Amino acid sequence: TFSPAMHNAAFRHLGLNAIYVAFAVKPSDLVDALRGVRALNVRGLNVTIPHKEAIITLLDDVDTLAKNVGAVNTVTHEDGVLRGFNTDGAGALETLRENGVDPRNKRIVILGAGGAAKAIALTLAPMAREVTIANRTVEKAEALSQRLRTLYKRDVHYCGLNSKNVKTVLREAEILINTTSVGMYPNAGETPIPHNFLHENVTVFDIVYNPRETRLLREARKVGAKTVGGLGMLVHQGVEAFELWTHMKPPVEVMKRVIESMV
Ligand code: ATR
Repeated sequence: TFSPAMHNAAFRHLGLNAIYVAFAVKPSDLVDALRGVRALNVRGLNVTIPHKEAIITLLDDVDTLAKNVGAVNTVTHEDGVLRGFNTDGAGALETLRENGVDPRNKRIVILGAGGAAKAIALTLAPMAREVTIANRTVEKAEALSQRLRTLYKRDVHYCGLNSKNVKTVLREAEILINTTSVGMYPNAGETPIPHNFLHENVTVFDIVYNPRETRLLREARKVGAKTVGGLGMLVHQGVEAFELWTHMKPPVEVMKRVIESMV
């Protein structure tokens, strides 16, 4: 994990007497680990696979978005209350904004229907003009789109990842977000969609950060599309968490520099 280096650099920069450490916790020890958090008065934590879902029932309170996603990646501990959040969606939104992309009123296509897709779709759907979920397992795309429709009463479509429909929805798309692991190291030669589906009027955001420029981003760049890499998301999900823990303005550039030096 890159999180200790990123957060410790931020603590140092702000002169905070705090430290971020990583612990490997077995699923059967999660309850005890949280008792330890309470007893030691740990101020906050991140959780990752395989605890993101299981931790929900062990917390005192869970933010609505995290509840809807069904996964928590950040926990605050204030006045004895453990509260869960999911910062992936806000991290993606901030990454887009930082790159000059405003998702409001845009036609957005999301590839994938897993945990990251859920967090991003739940964050962007209320502000988008139209959202389409395209996933290899079409039933998962259907379930997520149904959920978005119920929650936000918005126009949400779905289709299979390999279908001709992807080509059709992409023609009109203004933002394409890849949340699948296709193209991630060591399978950097792969890409989730054929290059001839891409065009210069779509911003392509790939949350995969290794390699920094995935095949999808390279092919998007070649057709003249604006591209956004996954490093920003890694930084900004951490920035959001840092803010929740400290109630301070995080030193984003410091955190970004640490991540860039490590990835
Ligand atoms: P995360 O939390 O990173 O979103 P996840 O919940 O395991 O991870 O979701 C992985 C996503 O990548 C899913 O949408 C998955 O598609 P399926 O639902 O069909 O499994 C997608 N994915 C993973 N490998 C893929 C591949 N080789 N081709 C297409 N989609 C793939």
